[in-house]
Amino acid sequence: MDKQGKKYQKMKKIKSLYLHVPHCLRRCNYCDFYHLSGPNPDWDSFESYLYASWPKHQELLQQRGFAIGELENLYLGGGTPALWGERGAKFLTNFILERGIVLSPTVESTLELNPGGRDLPAVVSAWEQFGVNRFSIGVQSLRDEFLELLGRNHTARNSHQALEYFADRGLNYSVDLMLGLPYSAKFKRDIADELNSILRYSPPHISIYILTTKPDYSHNGNLPDEEWIRQEYLLVSKLLVASGYQHYEVSNFAQAKHKSAHNLEYWQQQTVAALGPSASGLLLNSDRPSGATRYRWSGYPADPRLELECLNVSQLQLERIYMNLRSEVGLNWGQEFNQEQQAIFVDDLLPKWSERGYLAKQPHAHRVVLGSLGYLMLDSLLEDLYPLLPE
Ligand SMILES: C[S@@+](CC[C@H](N)C(=O)[O-])C[C@H]1O[C@@H](n2cnc3c(N)ncnc32)[C@H](O)[C@@H]1O
Repeated sequence: MDKQGKKYQKMKKIKSLYLHVPHCLRRCNYCDFYHLSGPNPDWDSFESYLYASWPKHQELLQQRGFAIGELENLYLGGGTPALWGERGAKFLTNFILERGIVLSPTVESTLELNPGGRDLPAVVSAWEQFGVNRFSIGVQSLRDEFLELLGRNHTARNSHQALEYFADRGLNYSVDLMLGLPYSAKFKRDIADELNSILRYSPPHISIYILTTKPDYSHNGNLPDEEWIRQEYLLVSKLLVASGYQHYEVSNFAQAKHKSAHNLEYWQQQTVAALGPSASGLLLNSDRPSGATRYRWSGYPADPRLELECLNVSQLQLERIYMNLRSEVGLNWGQEFNQEQQAIFVDDLLPKWSERGYLAKQPHAHRVVLGSLGYLMLDSLLEDLYPLLPE
């Protein structure tokens, strides 16, 4: 083996890659993700940006002792990556081939798409040929009044057509639905009714997001109150669990064997590489992390730049506790806390959380996992934990 080969062997191999595709046809008025909207996305600029990013990314990985290994997770997020269409699928096939990136035979490769896009069969087929085996569909609501209010580019009919397409072919897909929408009371939003319509297609995975808005959001004065949102969230969780879905993370529900591997990597605080205009990656220093580097891309389209942030052990711990509590991974208090902290946690906090119905089940082996009410109250549970943690 030559010197280069030996060097590669010693490097830690990254199994997950997130690719951010920033373009959308139209701007949703609540969206706070970096994106560019318009009828003719500039794919030339996007592709040039990826080409120019690659050597900078390689340099960063090498400096930190990492190399991209066989990928177990690939997530094409947006924006609306499906818009990149057949051109994108071809581009990426060559892009990864030329750079020696290989998708594992067991890869979970997800593509986000919006209902109502052009020529769904051709787009799906092209991405399948590339290796996508999971589609995430931004349905948001099945009522046209709400879709219009949110500035969405599709109708409820478009969503039904897309859902039927994926269900009929037995494809692996996920549906995004939003709660807490403006004018919910005025327009009598019946979330159970919308959810039941979606359940007729039996999607393998459903993501439920409570609308978050900035202070200057145009519909801020007409959002439902906390009690409305609480009822929607708990009802959705109850209905989905009764229909055989597992509520495995604050916003995510899956049928058996359909939890998103990509999501679980995030919540378990694993190393994830990232490419694309505002994508963010995390490189952990070692298996039992002594620190990490978080990086974020910017400078789109002309000048790809990496902003680096070094995370120390306490910052990582705080994030890990938050991420673990968000999901069925749960908080391992035996691992996270010293003896004194464990005593306070077990004597004061656990009984309180349990009494209030926040836990999914009895704690086991120093691990506590939240149920739907606990997920809803996550911020206040974290406040309970702050006094226990180092400054
Ligand atoms: C970044 S978007 C991209 C997917 C796709 N283009 C779409 O919106 O349909 C991914 C998901 O995030 C959720 N999302 C985006 N902005 C949100 C917000 N302000 N509050 C809650 N959920 C949001 C939506 O449910 C959306 O499907």
